[in-house]
Amino acid sequence: MAKVILIASGKGGVGKSTTAVGLAYALGRLEKKVLIIDLDTGLGCDDILCFRSDSSVFNWGDVVTGSVECSKALIDCSGGVKLLSAPQKIPEGFSYDTLASFIRGLAAAFDFVLLDAPAGLGTMVQTAAASSDYAILVATPDPVSVKAACTLVGDCERLGIGESRLVINRFIYKEVRHGRQMNIDAVIDSATARLIGIIPEDDMLRCGIVTGSRLGVKSKARQAFNRIAARVCGFSVEIRLSQLK
Ligand SMILES: Nc1ncnc2c1ncn2[C@@H]1O[C@H](COP(=O)(O)OP(=O)(O)OP(=O)(O)O)[C@@H](O)[C@H]1O
Ligand SMILES: [Mg+2]
Repeated sequence: MAKVILIASGKGGVGKSTTAVGLAYALGRLEKKVLIIDLDTGLGCDDILCFRSDSSVFNWGDVVTGSVECSKALIDCSGGVKLLSAPQKIPEGFSYDTLASFIRGLAAAFDFVLLDAPAGLGTMVQTAAASSDYAILVATPDPVSVKAACTLVGDCERLGIGESRLVINRFIYKEVRHGRQMNIDAVIDSATARLIGIIPEDDMLRCGIVTGSRLGVKSKARQAFNRIAARVCGFSVEIRLSQLK
């Protein structure tokens, strides 16, 4: 049975989708079977980040409303990763309860199901939270994003998610050294969640290249995703800022 992981943030645009896709491929490299479900109706972009926008014909909206079979909507992204794209709008006759049981039903066929949520704590995120074992909250190292993450930590507790972990994205070592970016201790203290990884600012990620050969083995971002994947699988991997220089 898969571990279902909600990937959420208080503030938008901080790197949830980037983290979901990067982590999915890193888990795939660990031989895990992974499903990404893009829950960002209207704004979903995981098919683009997985270079599969051409294959994205059906979406989970078509499946939960009974229009197509799930096998037709599942996109094979290679590397052990499959994707269910988000519908452009909430389908007619849609019920959040159906989505929740659909997510739980899919968990049997995978090692990990990653739920790429929209920002904030709307009904979609609350539904996803109720179906999740674990939350990864993404924040950038700035006071607004960290405050929003802190609020979400409390919300996840209230929604009964067993554990929440923090990913700090867009970290720039030089900026921290010069006092222009919040340092890691300050972020963790303010967000009040345990850290599971730090993803550096990366030119490739900025261009939407989260996977594929252009994010080569020497990429610090790819190495960061690998370390987060190992921690998610229960391995003890030290967090060292020197890896992010
Ligand atoms: N580590 C990074 N280095 C450089 N750019 C990044 C990094 N992470 C994310 N980005 C950039 O930030 C943009 C927003 O990232 P992403 O779409 O993953 O955020 P999001 O939290 O999913 O947004 P939304 O709230 O709209 O769903 C991306 O288009 C990408 O260009
Ligand atoms: Mg997103």
